Amino acid sequence: MSTSDADDAFHWRNFYGRRHGKQLRPGQRRLLETRLADLAPDGVSRRANPDRARIDPAALVPGAQDLWLEIGFGGGEHMIRQAQTNPDIGIVGCEPFVNGVAMLLSGIERAGVENLRIHAGDARDLMDVLPDGSIGRVFLLYPDPWPKRRHWKRRFVNPANLDMLSRVMRSGADLRVATDIADYVRHSLEQVRLHPAFAWTAERPHDWRTPWAD
Ligand SMILES: C[S@@+](CC[C@H](N)C(=O)[O-])C[C@H]1O[C@@H](n2cnc3c(N)ncnc32)[C@H](O)[C@@H]1O
Repeated sequence: MSTSDADDAFHWRNFYGRRHGKQLRPGQRRLLETRLADLAPDGVSRRANPDRARIDPAALVPGAQDLWLEIGFGGGEHMIRQAQTNPDIGIVGCEPFVNGVAMLLSGIERAGVENLRIHAGDARDLMDVLPDGSIGRVFLLYPDPWPKRRHWKRRFVNPANLDMLSRVMRSGADLRVATDIADYVRHSLEQVRLHPAFAWTAERPHDWRTPWAD
């Protein structure tokens, strides 16, 4: 398996969240062992790709009209829904929390969707190897809030990650951030508006208080 367990020795970036939760059920373990390798993009881990050569995004979901990225998909409910409503789009999700990955694998089995791919690890490792302008939409939904001021630098919305995102996102691509933490809204607005590659598209409070229809 080219995923989190195999890569454990190769975690080379700070990641402050949890990688493992409660014990996995046998069915979940089986899915991780049998299905994950088929759905995981090759060449993402540092072991497999120490030179960080760019991967071919078109090969991820052959025939897809575009590639979207979800960062920190949790249990993957949103990915499944997006995959069902957008069968012509390939969606690659990143999640280091193995219990969440197992939940998404079960969801994929139940839903029978074929346009999802999973990087069971840090989104930054995937972005490293994606070519410039290869992503048409990014979802960052309810990112870890890190409420204490001394932990703010751990928040995913930060200048280094916005640099990576702006490189892999196509011009005109959406970065969708959702949070229910007021201070994360303030923080994201501040960071995104300071970054020259991003434009804040909401025009009035109604625009950013209303969730996207999907
Ligand atoms: C608060 S949870 C939200 C999960 C899901 N998006 C939802 O709305 O239920 C944040 C998730 O982001 C993941 N995460 C944190 N940093 C990440 C990173 N660098 N790359 C990928 N996922 C990350 C965590 O493991 C966690 O599952």
